[in-house]
Amino acid sequence: MSLNKLGLRYFRNIEAAELIFSDNFNIIYGDNGAGKTNILESIYYLSLARSFRTTQPRKLIQLNQDYLQVVGTKESVVLGIQKSVSGVQIKINGERIKQASRLTTLLPVQLIHPQSHELLEQGPKQRRQFLDWGVFHVEPTFLPLWHDYSHTLKQRNAALRQRQANDYIQLWDARLIDSGEKMTELRLAGLKKLQSHIDRYSLALIGQKIEVAYRPGWAREQDFANALNNSLDQDKHYGFTRVGPHRADLVFTCKSNRVQDYLSRGQQKLLICALRFAQIKFLKEEKNEDVILLIDDLAAELDKQHRMKLIEIALETGAQIFVTTNQLNLLGMKNSIEHKVFHVEHGQVTEVVQ
Ligand SMILES: Nc1ncnc2c1ncn2[C@@H]1O[C@H](COP(=O)(O)OP(=O)(O)O)[C@@H](O)[C@H]1O
Ligand SMILES: [Mg+2]
Repeated sequence: MSLNKLGLRYFRNIEAAELIFSDNFNIIYGDNGAGKTNILESIYYLSLARSFRTTQPRKLIQLNQDYLQVVGTKESVVLGIQKSVSGVQIKINGERIKQASRLTTLLPVQLIHPQSHELLEQGPKQRRQFLDWGVFHVEPTFLPLWHDYSHTLKQRNAALRQRQANDYIQLWDARLIDSGEKMTELRLAGLKKLQSHIDRYSLALIGQKIEVAYRPGWAREQDFANALNNSLDQDKHYGFTRVGPHRADLVFTCKSNRVQDYLSRGQQKLLICALRFAQIKFLKEEKNEDVILLIDDLAAELDKQHRMKLIEIALETGAQIFVTTNQLNLLGMKNSIEHKVFHVEHGQVTEVVQ
């Protein structure tokens, strides 16, 4: 199942567009600043109700307009999101929906962009998000657990900040431990299944196997309950809960070396692609769900041989692919591969009939 149609209104520099996509491969090309990334961003926004470029969604609304609209058709389902200064409205088949997660479930999206390797270098949040993407899509109990955990954590942190008595702070612990341990189990089970796909794609793209280890957010020799108990004094000192799955992380190693110190920048970028492809395959295998793969500026910093390989392997995942490039010939797309080409110029998008 793929995104067949996309309608945009006042999305950044795109005043209006009606696009009919290939189920297989879509190329969006145009000069710098034309609006290519904006199109990928609109698909991402339709899936997640947030952007990968800004934390302020009102920036997505075209200048001098007071709303934006993205409407996508995926087989018989019509997904819509409208954002105005007063808020967000989400609709599925015309019906108002409260939870943005319903969009995410219906339209799973993976994104690769020129800064994607930050996943390996920056703080653990992106790595948790990477893992949780698959767990969320495959395991319906994960999101309610996560909500419950976050809610309980907030209460406990408030008690810590207010310098409440130990008894009062620890009132929250049983619930935090219960949802936290369940979340941890789901993440570990998800990662275990993901690892075989990561092996395959990292071998194919960088010729090496990459090990991914889960750090649960507390010292390994303890369980969560002990760790929480042991960290009470420190938690009181800092005014927040310093152990738990909200502090979890992933460690990527290659032959026992951290990939950040061992792989070249180019290899790190390919590793990110391997990780994204692994999630796509994981979701296909577990739920028979098709994913949308957005690749922004595919040619950036990849040589011809690796561009070809990347496209070949991306196609093999079965995802519906959208790539942007400022030079069409860089992709070397074969006519034997079913695809569509769209040209963007000053926010005007037109399909190039080949
Ligand atoms: N809210 C907005 N309203 C109008 N234009 C915008 C808005 N946000 C960004 N733009 C314009 O969008 C263009 C950038 O589009 P982008 O998709 O990043 O280009 P590229 O084709 O290089 O990927 C810039 O010209 C920028 O001025
Ligand atoms: Mg761009």
